[in-house]
Amino acid sequence: MERKKIRIGIIGLGLMGREFCSSVARWCHLLDEMPIPVIAGICDKNKDTWKWYTDNFPEIGLKTDDYKVLLESSEIDAIYCAVPHNLHEQIYIDIITAKKHLLGEKPFGIDKVANENILKTIKENPEVIVRCSSEFPYFPACQQLIKWLKSGKYGRLIEVRTGFHHSSDMDLNKPINWKRMVEVNGEYGCMGDLGMHTLHIPFNMGWKPESVYADLQKIAESRPDGKGGIVPCKTWDNAVLTCKCIDPKTGKYFSMVVETKRMAPGATNNWFIEVYGTEGSATFSTHNPKAFNYLTTNGKEQGWTRIDIGSQSAIPTITGGIFEFGFSDAFQQMIGAFMQEFSNSSANPGFSNVMPDETHMSHCLLTAALESHASGKRINL
Ligand SMILES: NC(=O)c1ccc[n+]([C@@H]2O[C@H](COP(=O)([O-])OP(=O)(O)OC[C@H]3O[C@@H](n4cnc5c(N)ncnc54)[C@H](O)[C@@H]3O)[C@@H](O)[C@H]2O)c1
Repeated sequence: MERKKIRIGIIGLGLMGREFCSSVARWCHLLDEMPIPVIAGICDKNKDTWKWYTDNFPEIGLKTDDYKVLLESSEIDAIYCAVPHNLHEQIYIDIITAKKHLLGEKPFGIDKVANENILKTIKENPEVIVRCSSEFPYFPACQQLIKWLKSGKYGRLIEVRTGFHHSSDMDLNKPINWKRMVEVNGEYGCMGDLGMHTLHIPFNMGWKPESVYADLQKIAESRPDGKGGIVPCKTWDNAVLTCKCIDPKTGKYFSMVVETKRMAPGATNNWFIEVYGTEGSATFSTHNPKAFNYLTTNGKEQGWTRIDIGSQSAIPTITGGIFEFGFSDAFQQMIGAFMQEFSNSSANPGFSNVMPDETHMSHCLLTAALESHASGKRINL
């Protein structure tokens, strides 16, 4: 029987649009019977972005600078949308109202109000599948950590540290771009860009923050504007949130520290999660992406075990089990999790993409973090 195809339109053809298109182009990499994504349309306001797509994928039928053309097309089933944050609300609402399924980018609305308006539209259109992007949990060593977490081997949680560190902003001569402009990127700054990534696993585990104390930093006060001038840089560079959470497995409180930093010396895209418990602890970091580290507490001394995990991903691939896995593979696995949503099979879909209500929890936390920093107080959620 011919496999089901999901015809996808991409809105926003920049960094992430290309990553998405490239993942789909090598779909033969995955060994699974799930529906196959096919890029059927592309849209970007900036027509210069089209060239990479038309050079590499001349078969793409629909090309437009008006996203409504994709939404009106009967040739499109679903949209991957990767546009600046100030456009999420309107474009996501229009996509869902047009009854196109959506894999949207984080933070899923520039602020809490925008997010709530998107969620209201989702409620009004329950037949539309809507998910938010987050790829790092799909690294095989992190999948191992997730299995370990689900087994409850940590006992009672003491502390969870989850974070995302970048360092390219350490270069103060790096010109400003929309991700450093409050009007386009949002008040959350680094938290809006990096926060959802750090919260995907905690929220999936049911670890909901009950309160937050936030310390935010603006370090780079100005940046070149790329045209010979210097402009103020107003977004938050670094944020450390200390949250009080309850683990539904034990009903006990633990601390969760969420770090989102654009100025973390030496860290090139370092996404990590560390879980410390009374009976066991485990860590994963993209700095050492093959390593699943864990320990079992046996008396007063504890020794870490490091297992090198190969490319044994949640969705099996043609890659030999001992070979290395990377960002593009994780991104493809994430799209695979989205495709599994369209599968008729009742097989376990594995680790799901970020759900809409999880984006809302993230907005509640980040909004409370802004309030906490401004007031100097711990805020209850
Ligand atoms: N999942 C991840 O790891 C990851 C990484 C980076 C960025 N992101 C997210 O992806 C989204 C896009 O980020 P990016 O880095 O790809 O940005 P980008 O600037 O590289 O691309 C955005 C594109 O959107 C286009 N655009 C702007 N207005 C438009 C409109 N009205 N219609 C159609 N296209 C329009 C721009 O011309 C640009 O080409 C953001 O939400 C960002 O937070 C996710």
